[in-house]
Amino acid sequence: MREFKDLKIAVAGTGYVGLSIATLLSQHHHVTAVDIIPEKVELINNKKSPIQDEYIEKYLAEKELDLTATLDAKEAYSDADFVVIAAPTNVYPRVYLKTQKRPKKC
Ligand SMILES: NC(=O)c1ccc[n+]([C@@H]2O[C@H](COP(=O)([O-])OP(=O)(O)OC[C@H]3O[C@@H](n4cnc5c(N)ncnc54)[C@H](O)[C@@H]3O)[C@@H](O)[C@H]2O)c1
Repeated sequence: MREFKDLKIAVAGTGYVGLSIATLLSQHHHVTAVDIIPEKVELINNKKSPIQDEYIEKYLAEKELDLTATLDAKEAYSDADFVVIAAPTNVYPRVYLKTQKRPKKC
C-alpha cells in the first residue's frame, strides 16, 4: 500500500454521504468520486456542488482539494487503495423482503 499521504481513495456515489466523505478526504488524499450522472460529475469538476450543503459548497469553492469526479468506475476502483461505497442500496428492484407472517403452529 502507498504511504498515508499518497493514498488513493475512490468514492462511489456523490450524494450527501459520498460527496461529504470525498470532500473531507480530498484535503489530505487523492480522491476520485464516481457517479453515473454526467451533470453531477461535471459540476464537481468545476468546483460546484450538485447538492445543497453549505460546507461542501464552501470547501469546493475555497479549499485546495485533490478531488476529481468521473463516470469511469473501472479506472477509479482499479487503482484505489480504498473504495468507499456511498451509492443507493435499492439496486435490485425485483428483490423484496418477505414480510408476510408465517402461520403459527399450535
Ligand atoms: N443520507 C443519509 O443520512 C444516510 C444515512 C445512512 C446511510 N445512508 C446510505 O448511504 C448511501 C448513500 O446515501 P445518500 O443519501 O448519499 O444518497 P443520494 O441519493 O444522495 O446519493 C447517491 C448517489 O449515488 C449515485 N449512484 C447511483 N448508482 C451508482 C453507481 N452504480 N455508481 C456510482 N454512483 C452511483 C447517484 O447518482 C447519487 O448521486 C445509501 O445507501 C443510503 O442508504 C444514507
